[in-house]
Amino acid sequence: MIEQVRQNLKDALRYINDRITGTVDVGIILGSGLGSLVDAVENPKVFPYKEIPHFPKSTTEGHPGNLVIGKLAGKRVAIMQGRFHYYEGYTSSGVAFPIRVLKGLGAHAVIITCAAGGLRTDLKAGDIMAITDYVNLMGANPLIGPNDEQFGPRFVDMSEAFDKGLLATVEDAARQEGVDLKEGVYVAVLGPSYETPAEITFMRTIGDAVGMSMVPEVIAARHLGMKVLGMAAITNTPQAERKLSHEEVLIEAQRCSEKLIKLILRVLEGV
Ligand code: HPA
Repeated sequence: MIEQVRQNLKDALRYINDRITGTVDVGIILGSGLGSLVDAVENPKVFPYKEIPHFPKSTTEGHPGNLVIGKLAGKRVAIMQGRFHYYEGYTSSGVAFPIRVLKGLGAHAVIITCAAGGLRTDLKAGDIMAITDYVNLMGANPLIGPNDEQFGPRFVDMSEAFDKGLLATVEDAARQEGVDLKEGVYVAVLGPSYETPAEITFMRTIGDAVGMSMVPEVIAARHLGMKVLGMAAITNTPQAERKLSHEEVLIEAQRCSEKLIKLILRVLEGV
C-alpha cells in the first residue's frame, strides 16, 4: 500500500511537472463558492482533476475541480479549485493525496479556505474568520492506515496546527485592507447533514464556527511539515432557527470572496 501511494504520487507529479516549468511556493485550497481567485492568476496552467493520474474527482456543486498553477502576487502558486470531502466517500489516502501533490510540487505552505457556519454570536454571514485551532469531530483522520515515514511521523504533533507567523501576516493584511478579521476555533464535522439544534448547542461550547472540510487537509499538511493558514468564510449562522441550504452557503461564500481574495494576495506578498 505504501509503495502504491508513492508510485501514484510519482505519476501525478511527473504528469504535472512535464507541463510546467519551475516549482511552486505556496498551495491554496479554495472552498465552496470561493473559486474566483483563479481569475487573478497570471499565465495559468489549468489541470482538470480528471486528467491528473490518480487524483480524486470532485462531486460537489460549487467545486469546479481544477488544479491551477501560475503566478499570483509575485509567488508561484498551485490552487486547488474544489476540494474532496469525506462525505463524498473518499478514502483517507484519497483525501491526503492532493496535499502530497502540492508538497511534491515544492509548496512549503498552504492556505486553506472553507465555508463555515458561525457559532459565536458576533460572527455574521459575510465575515472572514482566521482559524486559530480546530476540534475534529469527524471521527476520521487522513493518516489512518500504514504510515509512510517518507511523508512524516506516525504520530503528528498538533500543538501549532495553524502557523502563528502566517496568522500574524494575515492580521497585518486585514489592518492594511481595512477588513474586520475575526478569529476562532473551527469545529469539523463529517456531514453531509447540517447540525441539529442539540448539536449546535454543544458545538457553541467548544468552538466558534462549524464546517465539513479543511481539517483532513490540515492534518495531511502538518504530517508533511507544511505551514498552514486557515481562513473560513462565514456563510450562515446555524443557531438561527431556520432551515439552511447549500445554495445559501454558495451565495454567501461568493459575497465573502472579494475580502478573502484581498487578504490572500497580501499574505502571498508577505510569505
Ligand atoms: N454547518 C456545517 N457546514 C457548513 C455550514 C454549517 O452551518 N455552513 C457552511 N458549511
